Amino acid sequence: MSEKTLDDLFLDTLKDIYYAEKQILKALPKMARASQSEDGKAAFLKHKEQTEGQIERLQQVFELLGKPARGKTCEAIQGIIAEAEEIIDEFKGSVALDAGLIASAQAVEHYEIARYGTLKSWAGQLSLKDIVPLLDANLQEELETDQLLTQLGEASANPKGAKKSA
Ligand SMILES: [Fe+2]
Ligand SMILES: [Fe+2]
Repeated sequence: MSEKTLDDLFLDTLKDIYYAEKQILKALPKMARASQSEDGKAAFLKHKEQTEGQIERLQQVFELLGKPARGKTCEAIQGIIAEAEEIIDEFKGSVALDAGLIASAQAVEHYEIARYGTLKSWAGQLSLKDIVPLLDANLQEELETDQLLTQLGEASANPKGAKKSA
């Protein structure tokens, strides 16, 4: 049997989300440019700023572990971003574009929420006490972003309903 432990798996998954965040950082300005609604643009740009902070927190986590901050190719996020780019191409100029962008962005958020939820839980199990709050800060931002996207999605699918609830 291999000698690998949960510590190894934790580091491996940390590298996965570090890579993913860097890809997301590159994708968000493209999504902001593609968005037809100003609210959508603002949401993507705000999350780009948050993502910069999230990458810094991950660098702190690597530092606390005494490991170099290094990503590991994450094919899952590459696939989710490739789908977003496809939607931008295929729905350009259509009334459904913004709904498509929001749906793509939510797929990204859900991937991140899954990763941060797992990493936070493992950090607790591994008694990495200084690391738990850093991962939790990223997790909370992803959860808030997901909720914001849900609201924007409902607004773009049903503008009248959105006015009522705004
Ligand atoms: Fe993120
Ligand atoms: Fe995110």
